[in-house]
Amino acid sequence: ATPSEPYDAIVIGGGPGGYVAAIKAAQHGLRTACIEKRGALGGTCLNVGCIPSKAMLNNSHMYHQTKHDLKRRGIDVSDVSLNLPVMLKAKEDAVTSLTKGIEMLFKQNKVDYIKGAASFVSPTRVSVKLNDGGETEVEAKNIIIATGSEVAPFPGGAITIDEEQIVSSTGALSLTEVPKKMVVIGGGIIGLEMGSVWSRLGAEVTVVEFLGGIGGAGIDEEIAKQFQRSLSKQGLKFMLNTKVVSAEKKDGQVYIKTESAKGGKEETLETNVVLVSVGRRPYTEGLNIEAAGVELDNKGRVVIDDQFNTSVKGIKCIGDVTFGPMLAHKAEEEGIAAVEHIAKGHGHVNYHAIPSVVYTHPEVAWVGKTEQELKAAGVKYKVGKFPFAANSRAKTNLDTEGTVKFITEAETDRILGVHIIGPNAGEMIAEGVLAVEYGASAEDIARTCHAHPTLSEAFKEAAMTAYGKAIHF
Ligand code: FAD
Ligand code: NAI
Repeated sequence: ATPSEPYDAIVIGGGPGGYVAAIKAAQHGLRTACIEKRGALGGTCLNVGCIPSKAMLNNSHMYHQTKHDLKRRGIDVSDVSLNLPVMLKAKEDAVTSLTKGIEMLFKQNKVDYIKGAASFVSPTRVSVKLNDGGETEVEAKNIIIATGSEVAPFPGGAITIDEEQIVSSTGALSLTEVPKKMVVIGGGIIGLEMGSVWSRLGAEVTVVEFLGGIGGAGIDEEIAKQFQRSLSKQGLKFMLNTKVVSAEKKDGQVYIKTESAKGGKEETLETNVVLVSVGRRPYTEGLNIEAAGVELDNKGRVVIDDQFNTSVKGIKCIGDVTFGPMLAHKAEEEGIAAVEHIAKGHGHVNYHAIPSVVYTHPEVAWVGKTEQELKAAGVKYKVGKFPFAANSRAKTNLDTEGTVKFITEAETDRILGVHIIGPNAGEMIAEGVLAVEYGASAEDIARTCHAHPTLSEAFKEAAMTAYGKAIHF
């Protein structure tokens, strides 16, 4: 297709939601274009989110292990030192190879990649300010908005992000030296992941969190407490029930004013670097979304129905810019389902079966309901837990911190939630997601043979505990 002929589908935004939607649309035989302005595909996730953060998490963990953990395993190494430029380069290489990989996938699937900033002219026409200069207009009966999210600024403008000393997650992924001290504002997923990275590389990290617990929305409170104990042992400091009110740069330092969440008790923290990680917000800037008549809610999210339709016929929306958790895999599922609605008239995302993973060490992962949610809803439930300390593989790996926790419906044994803190929790949760998706009971898992010796036996034994009794604990 040439841009002057109408497309069957146009996707605005080339992040995990948008690029997956574009590929799926092309696979369904729709003539498809994807418009992306950042100059690289993959969106927040590949460029400044999931991928670079996981590269830094993995390599900082290896550095920390080599420096502090190998001796007790009978491996003597000397002169372990950090080469931060090389670690940052390894991260960049992972990002570039993956973003280029999506360009290849676009070619293979015959998706037209239009590099530029899209802006609505009408509900079916979009003008694109091309990155290389000039402008073009494209048209389609089906348009999918997948413009994602951006860092939420500190409320009231009390703190200005400069991406050098006062950084968002983006700056925290590229610090050129390890700060002596770092204050993290917000103990959600970004704060804990990036706080872990710089703590392992040698910074003294203090996390200031407004709420009484860490981990952000959706985490089980019991697991959150265990998580906090574990990170504290690694050297991170926590100030809970504490609100940051301002940050001021002076003489090369940053001075942060905090107060108790309930008011009163003020304190000033002195630090070298501040990470502002108080959440993200939907991004529709420059999209001229009003020209199309698309409705936004009071949080700036694009309003959609259960078939991803916006208030304007023919315009759908997916991912971070609309409702739901801001997660790459959630955006991808929505991308596929939205396209299936266009191509086949039906499509579905099961929002009860979307996993969350915090890629610290130990990892934390969950799917489904938490105990506190079920208590609030008055649901009768059972809990079955199994500690990694009683799992043979965790023992051989000298990596025994953590627990698998099942929550089942008391009457039916149906699995309502699975919460894991421990080694490899992020991979292990896939089995929990499958169980929830298939409506499995704890007995189903307890009666399924799991290989020995593997960490996954802890998963099976937690199910055995929920359903009856474990063998090894
Ligand atoms: P985005 O990825 O934000 O993509 C939207 C794209 O649209 C952007 O590239 C933008 O340039 C483009 N765009 C916007 N407006 C226009 C326009 N007018 N014209 C053209 N293009 C436009 N999620 C996970 O699931 N796992 C993780 O481990 C994880 N780690 C994260 C770590 C960090 C530090 C951060 C910040 C986020 C992380 N996330 C993670 C969240 C994840 O990145 C997002 O949920 C995901 O990227 C959302 O995908 P999306 O396609 O909706 O939007
Ligand atoms: P978040 O919403 O998870 O956490 C922000 C935290 O900051 C909350 O706990 C909040 O109580 C606290 N806070 C807010 N204002 C404060 C103040 N003034 N003082 C002290 N604390 C304050 O947001 P975060 O961590 O920025 O992450 C944004 C999104 O990115 C998340 O929704 C998550 O879905 C996504 N993400 C996912 C990852 C993953 O899946 N592994 C990794 C990183 C990000």
